[in-house]
Amino acid sequence: MKNFYKNKNVFITGHTGFKGGWLTEILHLWGANVCGYSLPAEGKDNFFNALNIGSKCEHITGDLRDYEALKTALLNAQPDIIFHLAAQPIVRTSYQIPVETFTVNTMGTANLLQALRSVNKRTEAVLITTDKVYKNLENGRAYQENDPLGGYDPYSASKASAEIVIQSFGLSFFNPAKFNEHKKSIVSVRAGNVIGGGDWAADRLLPDMMRAMHKGETVVLRNPAAVRPWQHVLEPLTGYLLAAKMQYENPLNVSNAYNFGPDPQDVLTVEQIAKAANIPYTVMKDENSPHEANLLQLDITRAKKELGFKPQLSATEAVAKTVEWYRTYYAESTGNSNDRTVKLTERQISEYFASCEAMPTL
Ligand SMILES: NC(=O)c1ccc[n+]([C@@H]2O[C@H](COP(=O)([O-])OP(=O)(O)OC[C@H]3O[C@@H](n4cnc5c(N)ncnc54)[C@H](O)[C@@H]3O)[C@@H](O)[C@H]2O)c1
Repeated sequence: MKNFYKNKNVFITGHTGFKGGWLTEILHLWGANVCGYSLPAEGKDNFFNALNIGSKCEHITGDLRDYEALKTALLNAQPDIIFHLAAQPIVRTSYQIPVETFTVNTMGTANLLQALRSVNKRTEAVLITTDKVYKNLENGRAYQENDPLGGYDPYSASKASAEIVIQSFGLSFFNPAKFNEHKKSIVSVRAGNVIGGGDWAADRLLPDMMRAMHKGETVVLRNPAAVRPWQHVLEPLTGYLLAAKMQYENPLNVSNAYNFGPDPQDVLTVEQIAKAANIPYTVMKDENSPHEANLLQLDITRAKKELGFKPQLSATEAVAKTVEWYRTYYAESTGNSNDRTVKLTERQISEYFASCEAMPTL
């Protein structure tokens, strides 16, 4: 993969965020030319500043809702590969700003795909949605890529709607039957409950726990029995990188969607994750809290078979790496890049990819 990405032009939306920051860091280490397009990084603490990501890519501040600016950035970047991660990604926030969530997540994806039509070269686009795009029946069955889409909360619905936009553009404008005319292929990728260093989003379990750890407080678990496919951020990113490479090389011979998640034994409850992190917690059920799914599991057979994807870290290892990252960061944090955090991040990346050597497709 390293050889494949070296010198490739890669356009990333959401590079100022948690997952997009890690992806930019990996691609920078591998010698890709990265152009990032996103809103500014938020808050005092963020991965973007901690790792000085702005110095490792062409950093463009822009809004997905600004079609002309997005198109100009895309045309200037002349991307071989696009990773679309920018979104309003928080379920609870989507109850507060539902229309904005739809505009950014659904129409933002449509804007990107429409702009892609103007790029006149071979380009592969990987569009990041979520495990929450499936109509969740909470019946204990792990979802497969062809299962019906749905969405109770506005975030899930906005991402399921983005999936329909992706399907439509895939058929209408990037149809494989006309590949020689448009030279594009697109794929949606679905993962969830990603953990790792450098995430400070509100209302996510690990960031809440790490903030509490830093302040010496006890974290409150709202939904301790909720089951989620927890995985370290390097796992889905590897899936996205694999999907892009495989599809770039075989545009007519791959699927239009992939799930990425842990093996079934690592689908744990919120409370099990808190125990693994060894952080003091209390349980407080809030009867007025908005609906969130209790059970969510993904079937990753297709990614294993077609891409050679294989999860490398157990949920406990993923939690340990996450806790190690925040402890290092907080030990000497000024909010800006510091040497120990950068070195630890690079070490976590190189150790992870060394452990992946058994994946033949890498
Ligand atoms: N972290 C998870 O557990 C998880 C799980 C499933 C899916 N996802 C998806 O992965 C992607 C990245 O998530 P994350 O956790 O890194 O989120 P994040 O909040 O850390 O980053 C979001 C990024 O999107 C950008 N963005 C938001 N609105 C924008 C707009 N209008 N125009 C341009 N840029 C905008 C932000 O600037 C930021 O760079 C999202 O699409 C999210 O839905 C994340």
